[in-house]
Amino acid sequence: MEKINAVITGVGGYVPDYILDNEEMSRIVDTSDEWIMERIGVKTRHILKPEQGSGTSYLMTRAVQQLLEKTKVDPDTIEALIVATTTPDYHFPSTASLVIGNCGLKNAFGFDMEAACSGFLYAMEVGSGLISSGRHKRIIICGGDHMSSMTNYEDRNTCPIFGDGAACVLMEATTENVGLVDSYLRVDGQGFPPLHMTAGGSAKMPSHETVDNREHYVYQEGRTVFKHAVTNMSDAVETIVKRNNLTNNDIAWLVPHQANVRIESAVAKRIGLSEEQVMINIDHMANTSGGTLPLALWEYEPLLKKGDKIVFTAFGAGFTWGAAYMIWGYDGDKFSDYPADFYKEGKVSREEWYAKRGKRD
Ligand code: UT7
Repeated sequence: MEKINAVITGVGGYVPDYILDNEEMSRIVDTSDEWIMERIGVKTRHILKPEQGSGTSYLMTRAVQQLLEKTKVDPDTIEALIVATTTPDYHFPSTASLVIGNCGLKNAFGFDMEAACSGFLYAMEVGSGLISSGRHKRIIICGGDHMSSMTNYEDRNTCPIFGDGAACVLMEATTENVGLVDSYLRVDGQGFPPLHMTAGGSAKMPSHETVDNREHYVYQEGRTVFKHAVTNMSDAVETIVKRNNLTNNDIAWLVPHQANVRIESAVAKRIGLSEEQVMINIDHMANTSGGTLPLALWEYEPLLKKGDKIVFTAFGAGFTWGAAYMIWGYDGDKFSDYPADFYKEGKVSREEWYAKRGKRD
C-alpha cells in the first residue's frame, strides 16, 4: 500500500480590528516603544474588544470561514477539527465544538488540545496521525488565543508581549511526497514555577480572594523562560535538521514561535539561516500563543512554493517545545490577487496585501 502523507492545502486566518500600539501601551503601564522594540520586537498587537466578539471561538470561526471560502471545500467533507488553545471560551464544552457548530461542519468530530505556545506544533502531529492512519482524509487544525483575556494590564513585564489572533490549516491525505515529514516534540514538566496561571483551574478554584490577588493572569519570569526557549527551540531545530539530512541551504523557511524577536534570531543563527529564510511577524502580531505558527503561514502563504522545505519550532508553558519538518504542498499565490513577486519586490504594501486577501470581516 502506498504511504499516505498529510499535507496542508490551505490556510485561513483572522485578527481582530482593534490595534493596541506601543504608544497606547505606554499610557497603560510604565514602558516605552523603545524598550518594547529593543527587548521584544513588538510594535502593535491586535486585541479582541468585547463589543466586537468574545472568546477564542470568535477568532477561530472567522479563520475557518475564510479557509472554507477560499479553498471552496464543502464543509460536509470536513471529518475533524482540532483546536490548539490555552484560552478556551469555557472549561467545557470545547472550543472545537463551538467552532464546528458556528461553521456548520456537520460531519466533523473535534476536540481541544492544550500545549500552550507549542499547541499548534503538537496538533499538526496529531492531525497528521489521523490522516496517515488512512481513516480520515480531510481535517482542519486551528491554533489561536485570546491572550488579552488573561493578560494583566497592570504588569509591564508581561502585557506588552501578547496579542489576540487565530489561524487554521486544511490538512488532507496525499500519496505525493509532500506534507509533514517529521516531528520532534517534548515536555519536561519543570516549567510551572516560571510560567503559569495561578488560579481558575481545579487545583485553585476561582474565589473572591483569587480575583483580588489578580491570580487569573499569565505569570511569567521572563529571563528564565527566555533561556529555556532559546536552548530548547535551537536544540529541537538542530535535531530535526540533522535527522532529516537538511542543510541550511535546503531550508526555504523557518517558522518560529513569535515570543521575542531575539529568540527567533538566536534560533535561526544556530542553524545558519539568513533573515530572509525566517517568517517573522511579531512586530505587528505580538505573541498570540497557539496562533503564532499558523498566523505566520497565513501571512507568508503567497510566498510559499510547492516543494519548499519548512522547519517549524515552538516553546511554551509546561515546558513544552519541539520542531517539525514539512514539505509544502502548493504554490501559495494561487489564493492571492497578486503574484508573490509583487510582495517580495515591495510593489504592494503589507496593508494592501492583506486587504486583497480578505483579512477583515
Ligand atoms: O510564549 C511563551 C514563551 N515566552 C517567552 O519565550 C518569553 C521569554 N522572555 C522574554 O521574552 C523576555 O524575558 C521579556 C521580554 C519577558 C523580558 O525581557 P528581558 O530583557 O528578559 O527583561 P528583564 O525581565 O530581565 O527585565 C530587565 C529590566 C528590569 O529592570 P531592572 O530590574 O533591570 O531595573 C525590568 O523591570 O527591564 C524592566 N522591564 C521593563 N522596562 C520597561 C520589564 N518590563 C519592562 C517594560 N518596559 N515593559
